[in-house]
Amino acid sequence: MAEFLNPFSGLVPDKKMSLSELIRAIRLNIAAEEEATHLYTAHADATDHPLAKKVLLDIADEERVHVGEFLRLLEILTQDEDQFLAEGKQEVEEMREELYLEGKAGGVEPPTVGPLKEE
Ligand SMILES: [Fe+2]
Repeated sequence: MAEFLNPFSGLVPDKKMSLSELIRAIRLNIAAEEEATHLYTAHADATDHPLAKKVLLDIADEERVHVGEFLRLLEILTQDEDQFLAEGKQEVEEMREELYLEGKAGGVEPPTVGPLKEE
């Protein structure tokens, strides 16, 4: 898994975490869920075995659900995370509107970025 700075290195700390430490731990957990999603999706993309692909993509989706759980927990713990997330979403919507809905990128929103590797 990830090579993050792990303050516990698999050991239970001598004391319970403070709220700030817990919030940082949850952020680390979110990163681990995202990394797992990336790993399972990459492995699914790299195989033609139908059952393996199906299982890997199913588990990847479960990791995405876990991200949602952690994000909701962060909202509760920080009491302002949802405001920062909403601000980020709004900034992207404004850029999207400028590019696609106001016609600055030809007025047509591209459905995908296409393949990133040569075929
Ligand atoms: Fe997970």
